[in-house]
Amino acid sequence: MKKILLIGAEAMPFAATGGLGDVLGSLPLAVSKAGGDEVDVRVVLPLYSAISQEWRDQMTLEIAYEVALSWRRQYCGVYRLCKDGVIYYFIDNEYYYKRDTLYGCFDDGERFAFFCKAAIDMLGMIGFYPDVIHAHDWQAALSLIYLDRKYRQSEGYAHIKTIFTIHNIEYQGKYDFWILGDVFELIENDRSIVEYDGCINLMKGAIVSANLVSTVSPRYAEEICTAEYAHGLHPILTENQEKLCGILNGIDYEYYNPTQDPCIAKNFTWQNLDEKSENKIALQKEVGLHVRPDIPMISVISRLASHKGLDLVSEIVYNVMKDQDVQLVVLGKGESRYESFFMGLQETFPDKVRALITYDRDLSKRIYAASDIFLMPSKSEPCGLSQMIASRYGAIPVTRETGGLYDSIKPYWEENGEIHGNGFTFVNYRSEELREGMLAAIELWRTEEKRISLIKRIMQTDFSWNASAIQYLRMYLSL
Ligand code: GLC
Repeated sequence: MKKILLIGAEAMPFAATGGLGDVLGSLPLAVSKAGGDEVDVRVVLPLYSAISQEWRDQMTLEIAYEVALSWRRQYCGVYRLCKDGVIYYFIDNEYYYKRDTLYGCFDDGERFAFFCKAAIDMLGMIGFYPDVIHAHDWQAALSLIYLDRKYRQSEGYAHIKTIFTIHNIEYQGKYDFWILGDVFELIENDRSIVEYDGCINLMKGAIVSANLVSTVSPRYAEEICTAEYAHGLHPILTENQEKLCGILNGIDYEYYNPTQDPCIAKNFTWQNLDEKSENKIALQKEVGLHVRPDIPMISVISRLASHKGLDLVSEIVYNVMKDQDVQLVVLGKGESRYESFFMGLQETFPDKVRALITYDRDLSKRIYAASDIFLMPSKSEPCGLSQMIASRYGAIPVTRETGGLYDSIKPYWEENGEIHGNGFTFVNYRSEELREGMLAAIELWRTEEKRISLIKRIMQTDFSWNASAIQYLRMYLSL
């Protein structure tokens, strides 16, 4: 039996702020199901104060020890919880994790260095030596670096193989050299591992240390070898290209399931799309828009960050709203310039536009279920899960052909009455191209017969973990 340990900063349903949380919430179970008796899958996470009492009540204290991080000696409690056959370990230290947010603290470098050190120490403490450690994003990068630089001589640690997954190359964990020893407990000899471009770069350190590197779509694996997408790391990825691969994420088909989702007004399947439109009516009432089941509802559900392509949306959306009989619902928060833009748009079109500046998972599902068209014109997108969730809830995606959007949404075309593709896509990062895609989607939506056949096709596209879990499993077994 292969023992696999995933290390990462967030996982649903415990604590999550974005896509990484979705993936670490669903991938372990998917691999465990796909591998059956061949695998033992476990996950390590920090015990944030955001993790609810309901989960804490199900945890048991496995062990407590002291973690050394440079001159510091810090308490570490390891709590354990078993969910659907996957064991989760939570690293407890209130000084580091009893905060209002998961990230964005002045001492994130130290918080995640402690997390990585505590996770690797834990293996010896509880006598669980995995065959593979699979670390995710920069917050877990030091676990692979510590393993190589400090633990390989100790019994149990020598044979462990490693995988590092990049969920978004924009966030690399860059720090000034003065904390190399004082915070990260690395010595001058370790410097060349983490050194990049004049500073410490934890993601770079993990890429060079890992046996294999993966990212969350095949297209993104190609893109991050180029200057346009790599945020400076392309030379490192090009040098390590033989160990790099891309595996498209899936989504949790139980949690995102329109046929039984308790959060939405009316459950539906691709066989009874009339019931989908009841969700639109319910949302129109909920957010105070005109109740108009006859017009398309367009939505954007996204962190309001520039790489999500919101500049393109803001360039064209005014004219689209002025000229077209449609509604627009935006959900998300982020950069204030986008928040103000969408709030301003709502003031201009009070009957047609709602800007909901918040992060709310249940509300997002009601919007997916209500939407007819879903916009995701990202400038870059490692994988993107929203286009898959939108598809599952029967909204037609309009996406830019980049990263995982390219791999998951193929352009619609029709020949001899036969439909191809599962959305509207465009290639160049230009607002005219987004507008064309949007207008084409609106036009198609207005022709009932075409709309129904395309939506049925979209809803039946397989975005479950089935195929990708097998690819991860193969990668684990190959090591
Ligand atoms: C990051 C990426 C997103 C991806 C997610 C899960 O949030 O930006 O594209 O879907 O990680 O891998």
